Amino acid sequence: MTFKPAIWPRKLRSQEWFGGDSRDHIYHRSWMKNQGLPADLFDGRPVIGICNTWSQLTPCNAHLRDLAERVKHGIYEAGGLPLEFPVFSTGESALRPTAMMYRNLAAMDVEEAIRANPLDGVALLVGCDKTTPALLMGAASVDLPAIMVSGGPMLNGWFRGERVGSGTALWQMSEDIKAGKMSREDFLEAEQSMSRSPGSCNTMGTASSMASMVEALGMTLSGNAAIPAVDSRRRVMGHVSGRRIVEMVKDDLKPSDVLTRDAFENAIRTNGAIGGSTNAVIHLMAIAGRVGIDLTLDDWDRLGRDVPTIVNLMPSGKYLMEEFFYAGGLPVVIKRLGEAGLLHRDTLTVSGETAWHQVKDATNFNEDVILPADAPLAEQGGIAVLRGNLAPNGAVLKPSAASPHLLTHRGRAVVFENIDDYKARIDDDDLDIDETCVMVLKMCGPRGYPGMSEVGNMGLPPKVLKKGITDMVRISDARMSGTAYGTVILHTSPEAAAGGPLAIVRNGDMIELDMPGRRIHLDVSEAEIARRLAEWKNPVAPPASGYARLFHDHVQGADTGADFDFLVGCRGNAVPRDSH
Ligand code: FES
Repeated sequence: MTFKPAIWPRKLRSQEWFGGDSRDHIYHRSWMKNQGLPADLFDGRPVIGICNTWSQLTPCNAHLRDLAERVKHGIYEAGGLPLEFPVFSTGESALRPTAMMYRNLAAMDVEEAIRANPLDGVALLVGCDKTTPALLMGAASVDLPAIMVSGGPMLNGWFRGERVGSGTALWQMSEDIKAGKMSREDFLEAEQSMSRSPGSCNTMGTASSMASMVEALGMTLSGNAAIPAVDSRRRVMGHVSGRRIVEMVKDDLKPSDVLTRDAFENAIRTNGAIGGSTNAVIHLMAIAGRVGIDLTLDDWDRLGRDVPTIVNLMPSGKYLMEEFFYAGGLPVVIKRLGEAGLLHRDTLTVSGETAWHQVKDATNFNEDVILPADAPLAEQGGIAVLRGNLAPNGAVLKPSAASPHLLTHRGRAVVFENIDDYKARIDDDDLDIDETCVMVLKMCGPRGYPGMSEVGNMGLPPKVLKKGITDMVRISDARMSGTAYGTVILHTSPEAAAGGPLAIVRNGDMIELDMPGRRIHLDVSEAEIARRLAEWKNPVAPPASGYARLFHDHVQGADTGADFDFLVGCRGNAVPRDSH
């Protein structure tokens, strides 16, 4: 059989590997054919990688092998050749010390795997929290045509007639046990009802927020975020996304065409409207850094300030993702932003159409789930960015998840030097604390934990919970699960482990929170702060070696997205030379 030249309108990147009759071309094709691939699949058609975060250790993504098959159907149907490959899967529920510590590792894996292989485009299969930003960060740094397909949320959990929201119910029930309101037997019974089906967390936690972010950015087909994992329409989404990525290669439609500043501004406003996770702040800034867009914390505060939260989902509201889908899903929300003049309508999406064109005909089927504009869940749904002598580079707070009466507060600091100190003392009835105090937790930032743990919503002391108190002001350099809630100041930068002022807060210091004024203040003189900082010694030594050392030495602050300093930017798809 003689080799047939490319049939595609232009020579594709994969033809560097497959498109000729040299020894190396034969080498590249022949080994691929051991999978039973007919010769004509190498005739110049687009080779599409299916970058899969499937893993049984990432339960939220454990169904992605099936979804990948649907994507393959679509790719074949549109005339492409699909080749599926695995990448590091960052499962939130099991990875230690934190899944966040491995987001950048996964992003590196994705970037190198795409660039090094004979691919013309890629479908990114994501689900659990960090898998979504990791794959987009990596793909954006290569900038080959890419489309994202989310695995979708789990079905609603139900326990004794009540909705059980992933994460949110767990935090609530564990507080109820400490307060003596729930028995351990009931808690164990409720465990069975939390995770009823394949899929990611069913609350508007980080996974659903990030699925919404990539839809708002234009990196998925419209409607992707909310379709439940087990709904047949999730498979349809995979199938049509497979078709579409082949067309995108034909059109040479790349992430850099979609990920514009306007697209990020649309996503920030969307996060306010959905009551999305504070984790989206970090991930979007890291993604923006990969495409050279200078997105800052101030953009979050400025753009989100006037956006009301209209999606009535836990943790801020009442319903779950399944109901959000039945109500019309994210297109309804984006349409509402467009009608309110809060959307850049002309941003391009992977569909080849504009953001507005995609959503202009969306219908709201349940106004108790997606609320009317004049009856929002929160008037100011965005992320508040606080600054002051305690957070010179910024800290974040989610007003819609906080208690209104605590948003302006002055209280005595009760300091936990690290998470072990917190765990050792929080249940002690002799702890000198009451509900007016401000709980301070250190050494939980990117370097300190390491990996910036989701412990910022640290549980209240039992002696306070038993009084019926459910919220206190808490401040840390940690993150918070998107499923969590409370008057919780997060991402304090610089972090304690980098010598930020958080490191020198002492028991008894007074702390002032002024959310409307966007201020967080340690009421200690500048001279005293300077003296304490000069005396401060980092209690944590850097890891001796391995990935943990690389992470420690190169992770940047939460205020810029916690990417590695050497990974920021787009490096393109060129490879220096052939393997032989
Ligand atoms: Fe995976 Fe929540 S733990 S999505």
